[in-house]
Amino acid sequence: MRACARSISASVSMADCLALQDVSAGYHETVVLEQISLALREGATLAVLGRNGVGKSTLLATVLGHTTLHAGQIAFRGQPIDRLRPFQRARLGIGYVPQEREIFASLTVEENLNVAARSGDRWTHERIYTLFPSLAERRRNLGNQLSGGEQQMLSISRALMGNPALLLLDEPLEGLAPVIVDALLVALHRLREDEGLAMVLVEQHARLALEFAPEVAVLNRGRVVYRGSSQALLQDAHRLTELVGVSG
Ligand SMILES: Nc1ncnc2c1ncn2[C@@H]1O[C@H](COP(=O)(O)OP(=O)(O)OP(=O)(O)O)[C@@H](O)[C@H]1O
Ligand SMILES: [Mg+2]
Repeated sequence: MRACARSISASVSMADCLALQDVSAGYHETVVLEQISLALREGATLAVLGRNGVGKSTLLATVLGHTTLHAGQIAFRGQPIDRLRPFQRARLGIGYVPQEREIFASLTVEENLNVAARSGDRWTHERIYTLFPSLAERRRNLGNQLSGGEQQMLSISRALMGNPALLLLDEPLEGLAPVIVDALLVALHRLREDEGLAMVLVEQHARLALEFAPEVAVLNRGRVVYRGSSQALLQDAHRLTELVGVSG
């Protein structure tokens, strides 16, 4: 998919890569997200922060079509998607890296990539291995023989094989050693700078996410309680602690 100019808009427009307008959503009759309005321009990166259980994963699930939409609209690249099935949203170019990684444990790295591949994609195995050289060395290893970091690289790679314009990442840095976190952030930088991929980065590592993403939305109890510049929030330790519950 084609990459475009990058910036983030506060208001929703047809030029947005992703736009949520007054979205309320949850699981059957339970409402988890309330009146969420968020917009992300093509190629932009948005960090989504918030304490445990505030609805971060539910927000991603709602974009993917895995929740019950109670109110509001969701558009991807100017097209309403809220009536589309999850596989149709994926086909349009929404990639997902789940919190649980969800790679196939009994398939090799190569087979995991094959399962996710679509014909005519620009993401080949070779390009994946250039992005993540350690996966190249492990290409014939089974999913359950990989380290946590390698599994996360494979999970991101599987999403890339679907040729996304937008990548939704749910706590990709969770539970990983600092050196692996650094390697993943380098790869995410490359995806943004070289491929122009738009990203929504849900993270518990607030400072890392704020340093990576120029813009941030903080959720609390299913609502957006802060939306603005990451730098401004990074420089306000008191507000950051108040919103996210961490200072480091
Ligand atoms: N499949 C589900 N069915 C019903 N309720 C759910 C489901 N998944 C999550 N919830 C509820 O929705 C709320 C938000 O959960 P969610 O997983 O979106 O939070 P989160 O911010 O991602 O938390 P964490 O930081 O722990 O990953 C919680 O009250 C949770 O119990
Ligand atoms: Mg979650």
